Amino acid sequence: MDPQLWWYLARVGGLMSWWLLSATVVWGLLLSTRVTGPRAAAARLYDLHRFLSGLALAFLTVHMLALVADSWVDIGLLELLVPFASGYRPAAVAWGVIAFELAAAIGVTSLLKTRIPHRWWRYVHTSAFPVFILTTVHALTAGTDAGTVRWTALVLVAAISFLSVYRLLAVRRTDDTVAPSAPVRPEPPDSRPVIVKRLRPVADGVVLVELAATDGGLLPAWEPGAHIDLALPSGRIRPYSLCGDPADRTTYRIGVLNAPKGLGGSAEVHALRTGRQLAVSRPLNRFPLVLAPHYLFIAGGIGITALLPMIHAAEAVGHDWRLLYGGRTRLSMAFTDELLALGTDRVHLVPQDTDGLPDLHTALSKTTAGTAVYCCGPEPLIVAVEKAVTDGFPHRHLHIERFAATAKPSAARAFQVELRRTGSLLPVPADRTLLDVIRQAVPGTPASCEAGACGTCALRVLAGTPDHRDAVLTGPDRSRRDLIYPCVSRSHSPTLVIDL
Ligand code: FES
Repeated sequence: MDPQLWWYLARVGGLMSWWLLSATVVWGLLLSTRVTGPRAAAARLYDLHRFLSGLALAFLTVHMLALVADSWVDIGLLELLVPFASGYRPAAVAWGVIAFELAAAIGVTSLLKTRIPHRWWRYVHTSAFPVFILTTVHALTAGTDAGTVRWTALVLVAAISFLSVYRLLAVRRTDDTVAPSAPVRPEPPDSRPVIVKRLRPVADGVVLVELAATDGGLLPAWEPGAHIDLALPSGRIRPYSLCGDPADRTTYRIGVLNAPKGLGGSAEVHALRTGRQLAVSRPLNRFPLVLAPHYLFIAGGIGITALLPMIHAAEAVGHDWRLLYGGRTRLSMAFTDELLALGTDRVHLVPQDTDGLPDLHTALSKTTAGTAVYCCGPEPLIVAVEKAVTDGFPHRHLHIERFAATAKPSAARAFQVELRRTGSLLPVPADRTLLDVIRQAVPGTPASCEAGACGTCALRVLAGTPDHRDAVLTGPDRSRRDLIYPCVSRSHSPTLVIDL
């Protein structure tokens, strides 16, 4: 082949590789300085970064093969791999050889990223800057028409220098924000201040709390099934179902059972006093009421709070509904008077101490195909309802809301988590939650129930296989690999990469 053609190919390969490498470095800097937008888009942006770097290496390979084939420059494989071995412009070629070797190391460590210590990858990856400088010097000195790229080199060096300085400043600012000496009190996302307007007991161990906006204004609208995250004075955030009237925008009503063996949130609610200022999130609905010809509501204990507004909604539009409501004792069952006022023929109360467990089979056998069955309560009740519907009543549509996830902590195994944006690689021992470990590096990471039930702690997964142990994801969503609820979920893969 004409040596002139190899020369063209070598030059095009070299220049393309240099420009793509510059684009990769620019893109990497934009990603690490977080100016590329919200977390949700980050996975695609990282893919683009990887794609650009792969393309740069491909053109580099074309450049090198064309040089070997070009008889005019007379460069062999040895001269391409050993710095200063070339008889043709030894120093100029050497910068290119060293840049190639560093770029190859970056490529290999990136491919092995999940199998090597994170700091190795990070050290090697920072050599992208020397690689850029070396390739620029190489481009300006090695080619026979090097002078033609002078202005391009100037623009690229200026842009990358500016972004590097900006990145250094941005990292320092981030470090200040997450310094362990300045812990951040978690707040529900999009929170607003409220005041405790009224507290009153509504059953044994259950208190009804009414919250109003501190400025006396209207609160965000909500629909039956919604919950709010309540930020307590201690900094704990807990989810509670709204159990008032959605038409009353001046007050949020929640019913809270004092759980002595819980994580302390309910005890703190019971200790609140009128006038106390708190913060609540915007209402979130993961348990919406669907339109159906008939409804069967099955509540266990405090699970009635999620179903109460649904019952009122069904009653208001004249839909057919029934309620099966179980509790430890009659006195421990909240809102019974309010419910019985809707019709004693449709409300079946089952205190366990006198009547035993609710008869699910009888209640379900009175429903017809197409009935929406809503269940909220303790795990044994939910499991029993799921089994009863699956085994004997397949044409009912079951909707459940759990208080907590169902996974057994004994099944936990150690793994490691990489926080891509923060640049940390942390071990997650078998006896600690992923959320705990993440908060070590990023204090204030939002969470609410810390039991895998509310969905507040959701984080985006960039690589690895999540081991979902929450109660939020159901059906096909349980195989999703792009998000995780770190308060209970773990990892099937040795390393999980999180967009944080
Ligand atoms: Fe509720 Fe994680 S905090 S699901």
